[in-house]
Amino acid sequence: MEYLIKQYALEPGAWEIQYIEENFGEFPRRKTAAEIIDRLGDRESLILIAEAPLPDDPTGAPVPVSYKIVHEIRADESVPKLRDLVARLAGTVAFDGRRILYQWIGGTRRDWRGQGHFRALTEESEVWAMAAGFEEVVVKTKNRYYDMRAVLAQLQFNVVKHEPNPGDIGESKVYLSKLLPAELARGHRSIRTVVYAE
Ligand SMILES: CC(C)(COP(=O)(O)OP(=O)(O)OC[C@H]1O[C@@H](n2cnc3c(N)ncnc32)[C@H](O)[C@@H]1OP(=O)(O)O)[C@@H](O)C(=O)NCCC(=O)NCCS
Repeated sequence: MEYLIKQYALEPGAWEIQYIEENFGEFPRRKTAAEIIDRLGDRESLILIAEAPLPDDPTGAPVPVSYKIVHEIRADESVPKLRDLVARLAGTVAFDGRRILYQWIGGTRRDWRGQGHFRALTEESEVWAMAAGFEEVVVKTKNRYYDMRAVLAQLQFNVVKHEPNPGDIGESKVYLSKLLPAELARGHRSIRTVVYAE
């Protein structure tokens, strides 16, 4: 299977993701376009959306089925949520002189899960990240997101930190990371076509 991936510029990508999250009600967190633009406005980032046909559409016209946003995080963050994230990663992820990427949001619509769309987006983001000089990708999830934890394991992310939530074990936070050595892309499995969305 070949995956069709659209790479979006900030504003159209933010609106597209707001639309996907609002209309498909299948994702645990919802971000508005304004939040996405605010977060990504002054930092390097990548917005990718995979498209595939609806199973019962005879025209075979592709629709958005999976999405992912990654962005850089820096040791000297001023955005409170990111400053907090960097503080929590202290002693776990080395920021000194290294470019670190954060896998912020992503998901696949229910009917298209398990078909490799998220792997394809992740592999494409890794190729982009290596070309941009990033050395490590970090991601945060929760114990209760079993699907995401399983997928991250399958994509070879390593758990680097666990923050227990004694009141609700499902809410415990899990931090994972993946190093991006130059040879990583040789192990990639998806065949992808990437187009730049207007
Ligand atoms: C997690 C999620 C993005 C995965 O998307 P997807 O498109 O189904 O993932 P893929 O099909 O690309 O799967 C990638 C790999 O994980 C495996 N995988 C997928 N879902 C899995 C599951 N539920 N359990 C175990 N493995 C799974 C696939 O087999 C594949 O492995 P392989 O390529 O080595 O064969 C999707 O399930 C989702 O959107 N979940 C809801 C959102 C969510 O939980 N967000 C958490 C907030 S942090």
